[in-house]
Amino acid sequence: MEKQQKSGHLVLVMAPFQGHLTPMLQLATILHSKGFSITIVHPELNSLNPSNHPEFTFVPIPDKIKESQLSDEDLADKLKESLVSTVDVAGSVQSLNKNCAAPLKKCLENILHSHHHIAAVIYDTLMFCAQTIVNDLGLPGITLRTSSATTLLLFPVLPQLGEKELMSGIESPELQALQLQRLRALIVQNPTQAMMEVRAAFTNAMKFSSAIIVNSMEFLELEALSKVRQYFRTPIFIVGPLHKLAPAICGSLLTEDDKCISWLNKQAPKSVIYVSLGSIANIDKQELIETAWGLSNSKQPFLWVVRPGMVCGSEWIESLPNGFEENVGERGCIVKWAPQKEVLAHGAVGGFWSHCGWNSTIESICEGVPMLCRPFFGDQLLNTSYICNVWKIGLELQNLERGNIERTIKRLMVDMEGKDIRKRAMDLKKKAALCLMEDGSTSSFNGLIKQITVSET
Ligand code: UDX
Repeated sequence: MEKQQKSGHLVLVMAPFQGHLTPMLQLATILHSKGFSITIVHPELNSLNPSNHPEFTFVPIPDKIKESQLSDEDLADKLKESLVSTVDVAGSVQSLNKNCAAPLKKCLENILHSHHHIAAVIYDTLMFCAQTIVNDLGLPGITLRTSSATTLLLFPVLPQLGEKELMSGIESPELQALQLQRLRALIVQNPTQAMMEVRAAFTNAMKFSSAIIVNSMEFLELEALSKVRQYFRTPIFIVGPLHKLAPAICGSLLTEDDKCISWLNKQAPKSVIYVSLGSIANIDKQELIETAWGLSNSKQPFLWVVRPGMVCGSEWIESLPNGFEENVGERGCIVKWAPQKEVLAHGAVGGFWSHCGWNSTIESICEGVPMLCRPFFGDQLLNTSYICNVWKIGLELQNLERGNIERTIKRLMVDMEGKDIRKRAMDLKKKAALCLMEDGSTSSFNGLIKQITVSET
């Protein structure tokens, strides 16, 4: 396929995590369909297979990070202890930026040499080193935020605000319901050097970028967005949900197991609880056991994603309790990785037990599926506040004990309370569909393209 197109050449800098590389790939696909030629620069860790995306040029850069550094048990334990952000996550992001900065600069210089022109460099906010490099090279830098727009308040702004300033800034019901004071307290608690440096680098990157792209929908976070716009002068383009604007693409790092779709085909409408904790979160053996008995005792059919290595100290599901499989029989289906968007769109799925990563949250909203929230760290806590307190489309699972799990599943899937939640989730789905129309995210996308082409001339 001809890679040089008429609208100009864009370089996209990807962060090597599932929840980040999928939206970047979706963005690349949409921009390519608008006539841009695309080079994707990415760390070697978690590389995609370029032959699945012949329309893009992929350029790997060395990152010196081993996968084990990001997914070992030690990290999982620390993630659980400190909830909001950890030494290791901040440290890993910092290493990634330190290690990638020089190769990224060289790579951009080489591209400039061969193409003579780059219309803009669009980088994942996690790859904030890109902004300093583009400043040096005199190129426009645009950052992609793959989490909610409200995270722009959470990490860069909240830690700088005093209690008083914070309270006077959150008078609206939406902001009150988010419990930002609680989240702020968790964030400012014992910050490490790495965390403070990463936060400062985030804030700088967002301030100096020529635009911020967010994979969200305006109506979801209206009040918070007006606050965000007070703090950042940079133009913000809310262009989500990217997965609905881009055609289905193959961006999974793990192989999707399609057998769960034929299993879902045999289940009653809205009866299945789908359980998935995303691509990073880990649980211990006790949580696996309580989850197993909670699901079994709820008597609801369930589809459960257990990633290999997700249970600390286990390869896969060998720690499931004796008698569990016999008890559950055909009522349960366990896979290593599911085609999640297809699962959520399936008529048999009636609830989503999720870690509340941002991609999972908006994918669930777009299909009108109510949620059971079991957040682990970072923005997942904020997303849970939105889901349970602002949009009221889910329940939080606070005590991971089998009796409580069973009761909470029934509250969501069977009780009157669950019916009201489902109705609100369906209303939100309709609003999300409207957002895809001309004057919603599509118009915001057109604004983004205008900004890229104007800064080019
Ligand atoms: C990480 C952080 O955990 C999250 O807080 C942040 O918002 C984004 O980065 P991750 O754990 O990967 O995200 O979760 P999420 O954002 O929900 O993304 C997971 C992606 O993997 C989704 O697009 C989902 O559709 C996909 N997925 C997940 C599958 O395709 N199959 C599965 O079995 C599970």
